[in-house]
Amino acid sequence: MHKITLIPGDGIGPEVSKAMQMVVEASGAQIEWEEVEAGAHQIEKYGTPLPDHVIEAVKKNKIAIKGPITTPVGKGFKSVNVTLRQTLDLYVNLRPIKSFKGIPSRYENIDLVIVRENTEDLYAGIEHKIGDYGAESIKLITKPACERIVEFAMDYAEKNGRKLVTAIHKANIMKLSDGLFLETAREVAEAHKDVDFSDLIVDAAAMNLVMYPERYDVMVMPNLYGDILSDLGAGLVGGLGMIPGANIGKDYAVFEAVHGSAPQIAGLQKANPTALIQSAVMMLRHIGEKECAEKIEKALAVVFEKGECLTEDLGGKATTFQFAEALCNAM
Ligand code: NAI
Repeated sequence: MHKITLIPGDGIGPEVSKAMQMVVEASGAQIEWEEVEAGAHQIEKYGTPLPDHVIEAVKKNKIAIKGPITTPVGKGFKSVNVTLRQTLDLYVNLRPIKSFKGIPSRYENIDLVIVRENTEDLYAGIEHKIGDYGAESIKLITKPACERIVEFAMDYAEKNGRKLVTAIHKANIMKLSDGLFLETAREVAEAHKDVDFSDLIVDAAAMNLVMYPERYDVMVMPNLYGDILSDLGAGLVGGLGMIPGANIGKDYAVFEAVHGSAPQIAGLQKANPTALIQSAVMMLRHIGEKECAEKIEKALAVVFEKGECLTEDLGGKATTFQFAEALCNAM
């Protein structure tokens, strides 16, 4: 029996979390869920959107899966997601982007992996006002953080039979910060002769991913570029309802979809739970439940290829739970 911390989140989080639980249980995985709440609705009770007992629950069980959590724009509390990643030093954000047959998309056979640095860059939260005149956000890039994220990407490529790692940067303009990232990436890549290494400026990467996605394999990058290119990647394979993610550190791992809380469709049973279900597949592999992970992946492939039970974002009419039930039946 594996004890897993479940943070359902807000917006569409509770719906997609429930759907994910249905599917994981149907796979036969022996999971005991320890559910804890984080988000704006916790502020009145605990004075913070991320109470200490939530952090403690993740630390105790070491593995968590979470739904999205809303962050106020331009004001209010710091992102719970970013705080969780920084507090637990979950320095890797691993996001596989893969096509399924039957999903409406302009592309076929996409198979990319984004490795996003998760603790620093413009997300370090170092900002200040310059009177009424302006504001300044510091882009923090450190050598140890560059080393460990590129090391992870190269190691991941080696272990998963990937051929190429591309470092994404803007070192032509940010010569010191992105320059350090690129220089370190080159140094780390030198020690991994079995995997090819290249680099690309982020704006060119955005265009190339749309025009020639087949040229890329594993892509490693600082935090902000990873955030943006992940959504671009989602657009290649059917949208944000599809893409999973894993926040991984030395001691803990928190699995979550790339998408946010989608407040426009919250509570309407319109959300596609695939992204969180695929995050659960990553989690099952991480805890050694390979067979259960494969069962769910096969069920996804079958249901998508049949195309009879798709959620609205994929052009279908199925509700969140109907889609989850179709996966359970396929298993
Ligand atoms: P979003 O990802 O919530 O939504 C963008 C678009 O994709 C919307 O049209 C939405 O309806 C659609 N969408 C997203 N997930 C979907 C799903 N599973 N099924 C069907 N359609 C889906 O991004 P947005 O609107 O920028 O952010 C909303 C809130 O979520 C913000 O407060 C943001 O800070 C937060 N957020 C939280 C994240 C997390 O908890 N890890 C990640 C990204 C955003």
